[in-house]
Amino acid sequence: QAASSLLQVCEPSGYSDDECAAMDWDNLGFGLIPTDYMYSMKCYDDQIFEQGQLSRYGKIELSPSAGGLFEGLKAYRKENGQLVLFHPDQNAIRMQIGAKRMCMPYPSTDQFIDAVKQTTLANKRWVPPPGKGSLYIRPLLMGSGPILGLAPAPECTFLVFASPVGNYFKEGLAPLNLYVESEFHRATHGGAGGVKTISNYAPVLKALSRAKSRGFSDVLYLDAVNKKYVEEVSSCNIFVVNGNVISTPPTNGTILAGVTRESIIEIACDYGYQVEERRIPVDELLDAEEVFCTGTAVVVAPVGSITYQDRRIEFKTGAQSVCSELYSTLVGIQTGLIKDKKGWTIEI
Ligand code: COI
Repeated sequence: QAASSLLQVCEPSGYSDDECAAMDWDNLGFGLIPTDYMYSMKCYDDQIFEQGQLSRYGKIELSPSAGGLFEGLKAYRKENGQLVLFHPDQNAIRMQIGAKRMCMPYPSTDQFIDAVKQTTLANKRWVPPPGKGSLYIRPLLMGSGPILGLAPAPECTFLVFASPVGNYFKEGLAPLNLYVESEFHRATHGGAGGVKTISNYAPVLKALSRAKSRGFSDVLYLDAVNKKYVEEVSSCNIFVVNGNVISTPPTNGTILAGVTRESIIEIACDYGYQVEERRIPVDELLDAEEVFCTGTAVVVAPVGSITYQDRRIEFKTGAQSVCSELYSTLVGIQTGLIKDKKGWTIEI
């Protein structure tokens, strides 16, 4: 009853009655033919859909933080007030690689960096004071044009928004307690696990919420074929330390090529560690001295324990750890406390 009264007050859009009647109904394909009305209703945190309504078919309002192909990078405020971006070219290149995989057009590196700079400067009052956090910048590439069938999006939108952030984990800088997931996997060979797309993150939510409800900080995923090799954590890469050797799984298509991961590999090599990119059997964690995670959001986070098949393994953490040494160097470069000899930062 409510819907039919709405139909009377809404203006039909698109085709006239005559055009509609003259439609070639015998030759319908699977292309999008816009009709007159659409129905929508919203659901918020309480999981209850509110009263929906009909409206004319047309563009909808979408939060800029809705999914798509996305990036994440940070701007920091130095002690002298200057703003610095960390490695935006790497994010631009990763988005380009991802866009090619997903058949999307992509901004050039210059366009990407210019957009990031403009967004950062326009929001400069939101860059936290030195030592208090950073401005997390989220470039997003999404299909935004009309389509019903399966084909590359006829229109894409690139947008950038930003938000001031502190620590990613509620534990702050305290060691994480990870749970090794054996039932759900994050990605498999030939898929798009190495691409920073929201479709790689949505499938981990079930395992992640289950682990969190049991008191774990996050989930460590295993490879989907052998169910034996360590892959990555829901939102970050993983490293294992044994003496002078630091190991991390190779980015072979199922693992995200983290910008922080790459930076930490380089810093560790500079410090004289032997860094190995190789497959790491989960059993090897039993003998590891240290484990830590890296990511833009996460930075470099120590892992205090990993629980695998009801066995809890504990690792060294604290000021004397390799993790702490690498964390201080990376954050020092990012915030300008350590001179950036690598050309990773851009002052804006
Ligand atoms: C990042 O580290 O920038 C990420 O995108 C992780 C995200 C899932 C919060």
